[in-house]
Amino acid sequence: MGSFYDKLAKAPQAFTFEDLILLPGLAEIEPWQVRLETKFSVNLELKIPFAAAPMDTVSEWQVGVALALKGGIAVIHRNMPREEQLEHVRRVKEHPPLKITNVYLEANVSCQAAREYMRELGLRTVPVVDRGGKFVGYAVYGLLENCKMVAEAVKPGKAYSVEEALKARKAVLNGEVDVAAILDSKGLLIGTLTVADALEDINPALDKSGRLVVGAAISPFDVERIKMLDGVADVLVVDVAHAHNRNVIESLKKVSKELTSDLVVGNIGSGEAAKDILASIENVAGFRVGIASGSICKTGEVVGVAAPTLYAVALVRDALEELGATNIPIIADGGIKGAGDAVKALAAGAWAVMCGRLFAGTDEAPAPLVRIGDKVYKPYRGMASRGALEKRWAMDRYSRRAKKVEEGVEGLVEYRGSIYRVIDELVEALKAALGYVGAKSIPELWRKARFAKLSPRGVQEIRPHSIHI
Ligand code: XMP
Repeated sequence: MGSFYDKLAKAPQAFTFEDLILLPGLAEIEPWQVRLETKFSVNLELKIPFAAAPMDTVSEWQVGVALALKGGIAVIHRNMPREEQLEHVRRVKEHPPLKITNVYLEANVSCQAAREYMRELGLRTVPVVDRGGKFVGYAVYGLLENCKMVAEAVKPGKAYSVEEALKARKAVLNGEVDVAAILDSKGLLIGTLTVADALEDINPALDKSGRLVVGAAISPFDVERIKMLDGVADVLVVDVAHAHNRNVIESLKKVSKELTSDLVVGNIGSGEAAKDILASIENVAGFRVGIASGSICKTGEVVGVAAPTLYAVALVRDALEELGATNIPIIADGGIKGAGDAVKALAAGAWAVMCGRLFAGTDEAPAPLVRIGDKVYKPYRGMASRGALEKRWAMDRYSRRAKKVEEGVEGLVEYRGSIYRVIDELVEALKAALGYVGAKSIPELWRKARFAKLSPRGVQEIRPHSIHI
C-alpha cells in the first residue's frame, strides 16, 4: 500500500479555475483582431470556442440554432425519447443559416386582432399562413383597416426558400421588403426574417453542405439511438460521468466502428483515461474533459472523487502531446463561470469549452420563467439530479441504474434574456483576454500562455473589493 506520508508528499495540486491566473504578455494586436476559430472534434470546425452542454434545461433546438448561428455548437440532450432528440437535431440542421423569428398571422384571424398584434411587434408587414401553416401572402398594417378577416386583405409577395436565405437578408437590409417569409420545401412557413434579425451579427458554424452544425448526446449502450442519430448530427457526444470504465470502452469499441458522425468521448479526468480510450477505440474525434466541476454537480461532495476541469484538461493535453495525438480536440466541460474561466481552460490546452449554467438562464433555454418577488429566474438542474434521473428512468429503458446516487442538484439561475447577447458578451471578453495574453488565436494562446498560482488572498484581491456594490 505504501506510506501515507510518501503518497502525500507526491500528491499533485489539483488546481481549479480560482487557483490560477494567466499572466499578461506583449500584445501586438488589438482584441478585435483576435481570431477564435477552433474545432469541436477532428472534422468539425467552429468559429467560436463555445458549446452548450447536453442538459434538459439547456440544449434543445432553439439553443442549438443560436449557438451554431454565432459560430459555436450545442449538444442536444438525451433526456427525451430518441425520436424527439432526432427531431431537435433535424430542426437545427434544417434551419436557415440566419436568425429568424416566429412571427406570423393566420388568415382566419380578425383584422382588428391582427392590427393589435402588429402594433405590439412594431411591424408593418407580417406573413400570413393558412390553417396548415402554408404561406399565403403578407398582411400589411395599413390595409387591415376596412376588413373583417385577414384573408380578405392578404397581399401576394415574395417568400424565400432556406437556400435563398442570404438573398432574403440582403432584401431586408436594402429595404426592398419589410420582412421576408422563409419557407421549407413544402411551402410551410419556417419563420420570418425581420430587420432586427437581419442586423444580428452572425458568423455561423456550418457543415460541408452549408447547414448549421449540431451535436447529439448518446449513451454508449443505446445502440438504437446511436444508429438513429449517426449521420444526422455532426457529432455524437458520449454523455456519461466517467467514460474511463471498461464497460463503456467495450461498448464504444463495438459501436464506433461504423459511425459516420464524429465521436467525442467523455467525461474523462486523467491522462490515463485518454490513453486507455485511444488504445481501444480507433476513431475518437474528441474528448470531453472534467469531472465534478459543474455548477450543479455534487459528485465531489457525495463520493469524494473529482478531476477539476482546468487540472483535467492540462493532464489530458499532456497525455495527448506524449502520444503525438494533439490533433484530437479537448472540450473543457464544467465550472465555466465566464470568459475568464474559458480563457484559462483554453490556455491549458482545450479547444473549446462546454457550458450549462451560462446558457440556462436565457430565453432560448427550454425551461419556463419563474418569478419570485421582483426577480425572474429559470430552472437549471444537473442531469444526475433526482428530477432529471427520474425522467430518464421513466422514459429510457437503456439507461442503466448502475448507481443509485444523486450526483446533481436542481435550482434556479438568474434570467439573462437573449442567448445571442450572452454569447456576444462572452466572445468580446474572451477576445479581450487573448489580447492581454498577447495571443491572436487559440493555437497561439497554447504557446504563449503563462500561468501563476494565486494565494487565497490573491483570489479576493483580483475581484471588486472594498466597495459596496
Ligand atoms: P456548468 O458549470 O456549466 O457545468 O453548469 C455543466 C456540466 O456539468 C456536468 N453535469 C453534471 N455533473 N452531476 C455532475 O456531477 C450532474 O448532475 C451533472 N449534470 C451535468 C456536465 O458535464 C455538464 O456539461
